[in-house]
Amino acid sequence: MSTLTIEGLRVEVAGKEVLKGFDLSMQSGEVHVIMGPNGSGKSTLAHALSGRPGYKVLEGSVKIDDEEILGLSPTERARHGLFLAMQHPMEVPGVRPVDMLVAAGADAHELRERMTLEAQSVELRSDVLDRFVNVDLSGGERKRAEVVQLAILRPKFAMLDEIDSGLDVDALGAVARRLSRATSEWNCGVLAITHFRRLLQELTPTKIHVVTEGRVVATGGPELADDLERDGYEPFRPANS
Ligand SMILES: Nc1ncnc2c1ncn2[C@@H]1O[C@H](COP(=O)(O)OP(=O)(O)OP(=O)(O)O)[C@@H](O)[C@H]1O
Ligand SMILES: [Mg+2]
Repeated sequence: MSTLTIEGLRVEVAGKEVLKGFDLSMQSGEVHVIMGPNGSGKSTLAHALSGRPGYKVLEGSVKIDDEEILGLSPTERARHGLFLAMQHPMEVPGVRPVDMLVAAGADAHELRERMTLEAQSVELRSDVLDRFVNVDLSGGERKRAEVVQLAILRPKFAMLDEIDSGLDVDALGAVARRLSRATSEWNCGVLAITHFRRLLQELTPTKIHVVTEGRVVATGGPELADDLERDGYEPFRPANS
């Protein structure tokens, strides 16, 4: 059992404070969902957690169990069990998925076979996995390929930024089911950013967190997604904005 704890995280991007004291704590095997308006800082959280240059941490901490990860390189963070699937997965010309996975710590033994099985579980043609990472992949194929990587690496915690965007309805179901299975298969903690309730039909959230203007302003159960679908974010806006 592990715990991911984000405490008082303040992050500056391009000279502007985007995360203004972000708090969230979750355990292995749980599914936490972040919802919030465009520009509220959700992807900034994902980038800051990944250690992307340009996202300057002003204050706060991110720990897996008792280990602070903010000072670590992106590779070290991955080796500590953190996986990030970005909103816009980047092309990595010249690098094949197999090589990237081995570099990230995957066991090379039977890797290609495992990748083929995982590709099937998200309905991705496995020949796509022989191309360079994300090069010439469609938007939906990139998202599915991210889930294949996740399933191979078996991280303690996986943060997925709009994994549902760009997926057709069949793929959306398959991805949600694969993530749900990860929570029992190796007790993966899933932290999913999404705009839509649809992902949550087959990926039952433990908690939903509403983010506006760089911090969590409400936390609740799955019913919170229904409230948002009905009323939007207006009820959650800070009084003075
Ligand atoms: N690299 C950057 N340079 C300049 N501004 C940035 C950068 N990254 C983020 N921002 C700004 O920070 C704010 C938060 O952006 P972020 O991408 O975190 O929003 P988001 O909650 O993920 O929104 P969306 O739902 O549209 O994906 C926005 O105003 C955005 O323009
Ligand atoms: Mg975003």
